Amino acid sequence: MNHFEYRDDVLCAEDVRLDDIAQQVGTPFYCYSTATLVHHWQVLADALAKAGLKATVCYALKANANRAVVQTLARCGAGADVVSEGELRQALTSGVPAEKIVFSGVGKTREELLYAVSKGILQINVESEPELEMLSAVASERGVRARVALRVNPDVDAGTHAKITTGTKENKFGIAWDDAARIYARAATLPGLDVMGLACHIGSQLSDMTPFRNAFRRIHELVLALRAAGHTVTTLDVGGGLGVPYGQEIPPSPMVYAGIIAETLSDLGCRLILEPGRLMVGNAGVLVTQVIRIKDSGHRRFVIIDAAMNDLMRPALYDAHHTIMPVQRPEAGTPQTPADVVGPVCETGDTFARDRILPPVQAGDLLVLCTAGAYGATMSSSYNCRPLIPEVLVKGGEFAVVRSRPSYSKMHENERLPAWLEDNKP
Ligand code: LLP
Repeated sequence: MNHFEYRDDVLCAEDVRLDDIAQQVGTPFYCYSTATLVHHWQVLADALAKAGLKATVCYALKANANRAVVQTLARCGAGADVVSEGELRQALTSGVPAEKIVFSGVGKTREELLYAVSKGILQINVESEPELEMLSAVASERGVRARVALRVNPDVDAGTHAKITTGTKENKFGIAWDDAARIYARAATLPGLDVMGLACHIGSQLSDMTPFRNAFRRIHELVLALRAAGHTVTTLDVGGGLGVPYGQEIPPSPMVYAGIIAETLSDLGCRLILEPGRLMVGNAGVLVTQVIRIKDSGHRRFVIIDAAMNDLMRPALYDAHHTIMPVQRPEAGTPQTPADVVGPVCETGDTFARDRILPPVQAGDLLVLCTAGAYGATMSSSYNCRPLIPEVLVKGGEFAVVRSRPSYSKMHENERLPAWLEDNKP
């Protein structure tokens, strides 16, 4: 469910017409809905409550790290899952309390660990023995204790796109299953560490619940084995990964997901942590773009839009499907024809859709790419020297630009000419 709907045949975000925003902000831009963000939060919170689960929900900032978005979720009560010092700083400045922040990631540097330890965050999910040793040294040096979970790799195939599968032994993530018990025991002996429990995250955009069930069952087994060996396990972080609808598909609901967590893990009496990203923000955002021109090659019809792969990488990177809708609703019964929807970047991969059935579109028309709230803006770049696009947040009848489009001079302000080129003034 989301709050992007036609009103009087014009697509609106909540009570604001997208063409009005386009007129004031220019295209392309991302537009997020506060009501949808809050709704998604509530659906998950209700599902957890109905399943009888008490959990700390740590929103994964990698999906959308805009401060206004994070702050909206923080006000609902969200914690944060971060994977870099930048995300940790962003979570803190967005009002997420340190005691609700989990730090994940396979390659945390010494400086990042030091920063995390100095902020006293909820938990650091450690992914290897050398990282554990480094964290122990950093915490000891600082004279503090770091709360640690071991992220284990359950070797379960999430059955999602290969590039977003993380939980098999072929992937770089987590501690190998066979080493987990030994490293857990070692962690308990290292200075500066409070070993809290386990974490796992098997992949993203899961549409089948079986891999979750299998991974959680393995975690359950491991907890029993660790406890039998005399270790304390008080926290379980089940990661993120629940899929959202990009087209007509119906992914499993948060209710079903919460039911599986309850069924597989609740008897352990652990504090639970969840790290949803896409579920919170995916359908809370659209990318609004304008048609530059139509190019008919005789062989194919190309709708060239002003958004490109640098703004939304998912189709180029994962062949991802995003529903495309016109901002002005066509009259009922208007014939629809297939077209390739492409951006202006000089790569064939800069294609949002092939043979997509669309109503008649012409230069100047506004289109939206749906379900662009997750892994859209955060993965964008300024490839082809294209400025990063603005982000807009709507709430009821109001909207605000929550990240502005940089000027061309701002884009290049950190560049410097080396001394040997300096006389070559433009
Ligand atoms: N926790 C960890 C440790 C993760 O690595 C991820 C995502 C999440 C939580 C959040 O997963 P979610 O609930 O959003 O599925 N760029 C890709 C997705 C990459 C996901 C990376 N890790 C895409 O656009 O589909």
